[in-house]
Amino acid sequence: MPKLTFIDADGTTRTIEAQTGLTVMENAVQHDIPGILATCGGSCSCATCHVYLTQEWFEKLGALSLEELDMLDTAHDLEPTSRLSCQITMTADLDGLVVRMPEGQH
Ligand code: FES
Repeated sequence: MPKLTFIDADGTTRTIEAQTGLTVMENAVQHDIPGILATCGGSCSCATCHVYLTQEWFEKLGALSLEELDMLDTAHDLEPTSRLSCQITMTADLDGLVVRMPEGQH
């Protein structure tokens, strides 16, 4: 199982064995990771699953859908490597993925 690491705004780090086929958001919810609210349940309509990636992972994951870009526009504290974690599906290739949560999203 690929490892997936979450870093809180306060720097607390949690690494889980992620389930492939589920999104980063779904893995977070399954493991009670704070800072991923996911109030819309993953339908790309709330932006409360906002995370930051490193530049390297952001590029590796490729282009965002227009739907995700539109919803990200409504997120607070947007950064160039912002993503919605409900739009990233875990695969074996994503082993070692690290996501950081924005301050204030808890
Ligand atoms: Fe709502 Fe990701 S869970 S946009």
